[in-house]
Amino acid sequence: MALEDPFLSVVWTDPVTGTKGYVVIDRLVGGIATGGTRMRSGCTLDEVADLASRMSYKTGALNIPVGGAKGGIDYEPSDPGAREVLRRFVEGVRPLLDHYWVTAEDLGVPQPLLDAVFEEAGLGMSLHAALMRSTDPDRTLRRVKEAFATEVEGIPLPDVIGGYGVAEAAGAAIEHLGWSPGESCAVVQGFGSMGGSTARYLARQGVRVVGVADARGVIVNQEKGLDVERLLRARNDYGEIDRAALRPGDDELPVEEWLSVEAEVLVPAAISYAITADNCDSVHATLIVEAANVPITEEAESRLLERGVVIIPDFIANSGAAGWAWWTLFGDVSARPADSFEKLSSEMRWVVRRLLESWESGKGTPRQVAREISQRNLDRFAAEYGEAKSSHPIF
Ligand SMILES: NC(=O)c1ccc[n+]([C@@H]2O[C@H](COP(=O)([O-])OP(=O)(O)OC[C@H]3O[C@@H](n4cnc5c(N)ncnc54)[C@H](O)[C@@H]3O)[C@@H](O)[C@H]2O)c1
Repeated sequence: MALEDPFLSVVWTDPVTGTKGYVVIDRLVGGIATGGTRMRSGCTLDEVADLASRMSYKTGALNIPVGGAKGGIDYEPSDPGAREVLRRFVEGVRPLLDHYWVTAEDLGVPQPLLDAVFEEAGLGMSLHAALMRSTDPDRTLRRVKEAFATEVEGIPLPDVIGGYGVAEAAGAAIEHLGWSPGESCAVVQGFGSMGGSTARYLARQGVRVVGVADARGVIVNQEKGLDVERLLRARNDYGEIDRAALRPGDDELPVEEWLSVEAEVLVPAAISYAITADNCDSVHATLIVEAANVPITEEAESRLLERGVVIIPDFIANSGAAGWAWWTLFGDVSARPADSFEKLSSEMRWVVRRLLESWESGKGTPRQVAREISQRNLDRFAAEYGEAKSSHPIF
C-alpha cells in the first residue's frame, strides 16, 4: 500500500536473545510521527512498513498533523521473557522515542506494560516525544496520565476507545445499509483490546454477537448469541477466554474455522492478513469492518468487492485509539469518557456515511475514497509543517 519508500527503517537485534525488532517511520510531519508497537512471533520488517504507511493514512484521515510510524518485535508476547525483550527494544531505539516517534499499545503489547517500561527507561510514558513538543510538558503529562488511568467498567479507557470506534463504524454502516441492529449478527476475530471492546459495544447497539475467536479457538452460539459481558469477565491480559465461562449452547470450533460462523457483520480484530485469496470465498458477511490493521490482502479484497461486500478500511474503522490519544494530548477532550465517546461517535459516523455515499455514487470503493480524503490532508500537512525535525511546540 505504501506509495513511496518510508522515511526511515530501523532493524534492531536483541543482544540477549537475537530477537529482531523493527521501527519504520513512514513520514515525519513537523518532525514527529505516531504508531503503535506490536509483538508477535513472525513479525517482519515488511509488515511493519505496511502498517506504518497505513498510520500515515490514519493521521491524514483524522486530520491530525503528525506522520505515520510503527514498531514491531518478532517475539511471542506470552513468553516469560517478553517484558525484558520489550524493555531492551525501548532502550535500543530510544533516540527515536526521545524525539520523533510517539508509540502506543498494539497487538501483544498492552498500554500499561508499555508505559511501565517507558517509566523505567526514564521516559515517563509512551507518548513521550509528543509531550516534549507541548508548550507545558508537565501539565500535559498530568492531564494525559489522568485520561490514560481512567477506567470504563474496570477497563482502562485506552483499551476501550478503539473498539468503541469500530462498533460505531459498524453501527453507521448498518444504519446506512438500512439494516436493523437487532436483526443483525456479528462475528469478531480477536478478543483483546480491540475485539473485546468492539464486541461489547456492538452488543450494546443490539447486534447479536454470535461468534468470537481468540488465539485458542472460536466460541460460537449461532442460535442465541453469546453473553459478551460474561466472556469479557473471563478474559485474561492476553485476550484469551477461560472456557469454564461458556454457557450451555456455546460451542467451540478450531481457530481456523472462524469464517464458518454465519453473520452479516464480520470484524477481524486480531492478526494482519487474516483474510486471503485462499479463504475469502468462505466469508459469509456482507459488511466487514476492519478493526485489525491490514486484515485482508489486496487480492482477497478485490474478490470480496466483486461480490458486493462492503469493507470499512482499517485506517478509518480502527482510528479511534490513535485519534483519542492525540485529542487528549491537544486537550480537545477531557478525561471524562463520555466526552471521548461522544466526539469519536460523531466523527466516525460522519466519515463512514460519507464513504458509503461516495461509493454508491460511483466515486470509488470506501478505501479509495478514504485514501483520497487522507492524501489531501497529508499533502496539506507537508506544505504547512514540512518533514524535517523541528523543536517548535506543536500544541
Ligand atoms: N489496541 C489498539 O489500540 C489498536 C488500535 C488500532 C489497531 N489495532 C489492531 O488491532 C489488532 C488487535 O490488537 P489488540 O491491541 O486488540 O491486540 P491484543 O493483543 O489486545 O488482542 C489480540 C487478540 O487476538 C487473539 N488472537 C491472536 N491470534 C489469533 C488468531 N490466529 N486467531 C484468532 N484470534 C487470535 C488473541 O487471543 C487476543 O484475543 C491488531 O491488528 C492491531 O494492530 C489495535
